[in-house]
Amino acid sequence: MSLPKSFTAVSCTAPHAPWKTVKVPVRTPEPHEVFIKVHASGICNSDHFVYEGAWPGLAYPRTPGHEVVGRVVSVGEGVQAGRFSEGELVGVGWNGGYCGACVSCREGEFWDCEMHAVTGFTHDGGHGEYMYAPVTSVVRLPEAALENSTYAELAPLLCAGITVYGALASTPHKPGDICLVQGIGGLGHLAIQYAARMGLKVYATSSGPSKAELARSLGAHEHIDSSAVDVAEYMSKLGGAKVMLCTAPSSGAISKVLPAVARGGVITVVSAATDGEVKVSTLLLNLKRATVRGWACGASSDTEQCVRFSHLADVKAMVKEYKLDEFAEAYENMITGGPKFRNVIVFP
Ligand SMILES: NC(=O)c1ccc[n+]([C@@H]2O[C@H](COP(=O)([O-])OP(=O)(O)OC[C@H]3O[C@@H](n4cnc5c(N)ncnc54)[C@H](OP(=O)(O)O)[C@@H]3O)[C@@H](O)[C@H]2O)c1
Ligand SMILES: [Zn+2]
Ligand SMILES: [Zn+2]
Repeated sequence: MSLPKSFTAVSCTAPHAPWKTVKVPVRTPEPHEVFIKVHASGICNSDHFVYEGAWPGLAYPRTPGHEVVGRVVSVGEGVQAGRFSEGELVGVGWNGGYCGACVSCREGEFWDCEMHAVTGFTHDGGHGEYMYAPVTSVVRLPEAALENSTYAELAPLLCAGITVYGALASTPHKPGDICLVQGIGGLGHLAIQYAARMGLKVYATSSGPSKAELARSLGAHEHIDSSAVDVAEYMSKLGGAKVMLCTAPSSGAISKVLPAVARGGVITVVSAATDGEVKVSTLLLNLKRATVRGWACGASSDTEQCVRFSHLADVKAMVKEYKLDEFAEAYENMITGGPKFRNVIVFP
């Protein structure tokens, strides 16, 4: 494969600085790295942590992007022979790799490795023509996944997909149990599809009527407009939701919907609400014996499972494709709630 001397990437040079396009010199991958030709890179709402400087220890300049799909160009000399071959279809998600030796890794909880490496935060991510990824962060993607998805449609599975898939798959439920998905954005529109394919009866709620038809087409049994209906009251009349997934980054909106939980139900908050704290009634938790918990992404092997299920069950992200020089527009559109549902940078 003939390589250029440099490649183009988007860069954030300081908190709130305008997005810049920079030239990055091509170098030999470090021993633990895989050098990847990026084909698609999804813009996650969490990219705002880089733009706003809101993540502890962030160093600038930084290229975000943790929903990456591409093909292997080369591997560092420390990568075991045969592990990845040139041209292989791979992805990179939020988890920026793990050490294999810390307590979490030794317990198999790679997502919580004490290195806390995050793609596009602790090292440069996928919003560029190429990227260097630690080998433990690289997700092997089946070529068959491209039979019913494009590169761009696969990219959001690397963060949005694995996050909600993992949260739902790890919540105890029986076929036909009621699930409430709150917030229909990048995460929410995938959560509706996963929950329906997992045999749950899905209610999806958003802050207006505009996504009703779409929610149903994704597999929701019913859409509830939270601007017109008290969602918790409505759900309570149905017996409450055994499985609840909150994806809207609004602590007020989450607090309001919590009483929709059923007896013994599990509420998983995946959104990162930075506008204050979520309030929950202890009485509600006690009387319902309900659980409130969080959930973070997953490691590379978890994502491989998520991609396999997505392919099997035909779960697909709805995307709008942008070119790299349109990044600022695509980011702004995401922040102002424009996308239906994921803006993805694509590369030839
Ligand atoms: N835990 C993890 O591992 C993980 C992984 C990825 C992302 N995240 C976090 O998850 C959240 C969602 O990410 P995303 O990429 O899905 O974002 P997104 O595409 O912007 O979607 C968020 C949705 O939440 C709803 N919403 C937004 N602001 C709201 C408000 N003030 N009140 C009520 N509803 C509001 C909107 O849906 P409606 O119009 O339908 O109400 C919006 O479409 C973000 O906080 C992100 O940082 C967490
Ligand atoms: Zn993300
Ligand atoms: Zn570790």
